[in-house]
Amino acid sequence: MLKKVVGKYAAGLVKDGDVIGLGTGSTTLEFIKSLGERIKNEGIEVYGIPTSFQSKILGIGNKINIVSIDQCTPEKAFDGADEVDPHNFLIKGRGAAILQEKIIDYSSKEFYVLADETKLVEKLGEKAKIPIEVIPQAWKIVSEKLKDLKPELRMAINKDGPVITDNGNFIIDLKFSVDNPEEKERELNNIPGVIENGIFTKKCKVLIGTKEGVKKI
Ligand code: A5P
Repeated sequence: MLKKVVGKYAAGLVKDGDVIGLGTGSTTLEFIKSLGERIKNEGIEVYGIPTSFQSKILGIGNKINIVSIDQCTPEKAFDGADEVDPHNFLIKGRGAAILQEKIIDYSSKEFYVLADETKLVEKLGEKAKIPIEVIPQAWKIVSEKLKDLKPELRMAINKDGPVITDNGNFIIDLKFSVDNPEEKERELNNIPGVIENGIFTKKCKVLIGTKEGVKKI
């Protein structure tokens, strides 16, 4: 319900002719569906750069013109989050899409995060695990290196064995309280075999769906 409220609000921010980043997850699903309604009813043209197979398939189904980051830079990116701290730093990656999400979200001129009040925390790592995407050959050695952060290889549900990301990699979930998100984001990516991590510190505007409407922070 709140996901629909924030998704619809965010879809209203898109202008005819915009190139946008299409985030991944259950909240951006509502955003893409609402945008599809606008495309159908108002006849606007929107160009979307997907961050996953999920958003590509949804974008196509909702008549968004799918383009690639090779062709254009997004003016606005719309994405979800698992946690949002008081500085608008984020944890993302429940859906294992962090690599393409970060490429698109960080290259966008404006970055909008779609969330609800349950995602707000005082400190990152309070509730959510922090995912890292690793190349399959390195999962063991990276896990050993990060053994103090309770590494868990993420296992698939409707497949035997580990989750395979849209880029053919594994996900390791970490559990720790994030003291300095900007430093930790850089530090994790410095480990050989780690391709990306779920700490997002790019400046963003957070749209929070509440029963009273959308709050901007
Ligand atoms: C995808 O990998 C994630 O980063 C999602 O954007 C994030 O988990 C938020 O998802 P929901 O909107 O489904 O909560």
